[in-house]
Formats: sequence, structure tokens, C-alpha cells
Amino acid sequence: MNKHLLSAADLTRDDAVAILDTAVELARVSDRTVKKLPTLRGRTVVNLFFEDSTRTRISFEAAAKRLSADVITFSAKGSSVSKGESLKDTALTLEAMGADAIVVRHGASGAPHRLAHSGWIDGVVVNAGDGTHEHPTQALLDAYTLRHHLSSDEGALDGRHVVIVGDVLHSRVARSNVLLLHTLGARVTLVAPPTLMPVGVESWPCGISYDLDAALPGADAVMMLRVQAERMNAAYFPSANEYSRRYGLDVRRSDLLADGGIVMHPGPMNRGMEITAEVADGPRSVIVEQVTNGVHVRMAVLYRLLGAADVIGEAS
Ligand code: NCD
Repeated sequence: MNKHLLSAADLTRDDAVAILDTAVELARVSDRTVKKLPTLRGRTVVNLFFEDSTRTRISFEAAAKRLSADVITFSAKGSSVSKGESLKDTALTLEAMGADAIVVRHGASGAPHRLAHSGWIDGVVVNAGDGTHEHPTQALLDAYTLRHHLSSDEGALDGRHVVIVGDVLHSRVARSNVLLLHTLGARVTLVAPPTLMPVGVESWPCGISYDLDAALPGADAVMMLRVQAERMNAAYFPSANEYSRRYGLDVRRSDLLADGGIVMHPGPMNRGMEITAEVADGPRSVIVEQVTNGVHVRMAVLYRLLGAADVIGEAS
């Protein structure tokens, strides 16, 4: 496994399966009365968030704490220093504090890569979402959730069909998921209006469709993406109503999925826009479960990247 986790493409199939299997073990620990493991005692994990986040930040914090690491959370939003300089200065500060792992979310695509390969720091870097580029731990928690529901032996996802729908253009979740799901043997179809499909998407390892009703029948899972209004500097579709009518998930559409097919969303959701409340809270939805799984998967990532000793068996 690579030293850092910057992209879902960093993971071989064996790496990804090893992380998912470790997460399954760690999830069992979370069922115990004493949930904490001594694995990362004395190690320091810094959460460096230059962009807003609820789930991802809390999830990494919970993951590091359950492994007994010292956790420092740094929200850099509002800084007026130019991005390159502020990142370097921050990195030097973190290095001076002896950070063993830096979990970074940044509005600029490539910022975690810069942090990892600049020579500013020694610790491992985990990408918690960079611009419109990648979000590899989200893809891992999605793969964990898919495996749990669609694979009886917790094996891989060979031959499963996952439809990813919505604002693909601005979505780091979509890109990381396409890469990881392909690595794990699943078939992915991206569905979006033409204006929200990224340039060059033809070279991604997935199918492309502009018609949601045509893509959904028989699929094993549908992953809805948030319409990322904060990243839109132009009108990408005529109106919210029209978007929902063509690309929103309602009960009729979710019933086109295969029997046992699941509905996913990375959150935060725009209820009534890309997904109706009825579907989000309905029987096929695993959206809340995705959040729980995120903690186990992030524990597994920290555990493997920080080369922790094999102490899953002993709760402290
Ligand atoms: C995603 C993100 O931040 O990229 N959310 C998340 O991490 N749970 C998706 C989004 O913001 O829409």
C-alpha cells in the first residue's frame, strides 16, 4: 500500500479489500461495551479542514479517537492568506508539532498531493476531499456499504451494477467511486445532464447516460449526488423543478432497481431536489448506515497507513 491515500487510484484491488476487511473487524469492536483500541496511542492525527464538512470531519475524529490517537482538529476556513502559502505555513506548523497523519480537506484540487509530495512534512496524508477531484475514503465507505448489502460473503463487487446520478461535474465522490468500484469489479453508469458531465468522462472506466429512467432498471444500487450550488458559477440547468423531474429520485424510479437494490447518498442531501424525502427515508435507503460505516472504514485507513500493530483482538 502507498504511504499516503490521495486517490482511489492509489489502491490496488488487494489494498482495497484489505481495508474493507479490516473495517469489518473494527466494526465488530464497535459493538463492544468498550469501543476503544490502544492501537494508535501516542500518535497524533491532525484534521486539517479548509472547507466545510460535517460527516467527514466528525467521522475522522471519531475514528482516530477510537484508536486512541491524539486528535487535533484545525478548521482553516476564513483564512485570507493565499492558498499555496497558507498551506505551506500550516504544514510547517503541523510538522513542528509532530503530526503522524494529516487528514486534509481543501477547496483546491491537488492540495493533498502538494502536501504529501512537497517535502514539508514527514507524516502520512489522507485526502478527505479536494476540490472537484477526489474523496477516496468516501468511495471506500460506499464500497463497504455496497459489499455489506450486495455480496453474501463480504467478497468483492464483481458484476454488480451501480448507477451514479447527478452533479458529476463537481463531484469528487463520483470520480473516486468510479475508480474504486471499477477496481473492485463493479459496473458503473454515470447519469447526468450533459452540462453536468465532466469533459473527458469518456476515458473513465464506466458507462455514460443522460437518461435516468433508461439506466435504472435492474441496477443493484443507485448513488445520488448533491447538486453543488456553491461550486456553480453559471446556470447548468433551467430550473430546480426541471432538474428534479429529469434527474431526481422518487419512489417510482427507485422501484426500477433490482429486488434488494439500495439507495445511497454521501450527504448532505438537498431533499426535494436530487432525492425525495420519501426515498431518502424509505426502505431501500442506506444513507444513515453510510455514515456509521464511514467511521469503521476511516479507522481501517488510519490503522493500515500508520502501520499499527495487530491488536484488534484486545480492547483496552
Ligand atoms: C461530499 C463531499 O464533501 O464531497 N460529502 C461528504 O463528504 N459526505 C459530497 C457533497 O458535498 O455533496
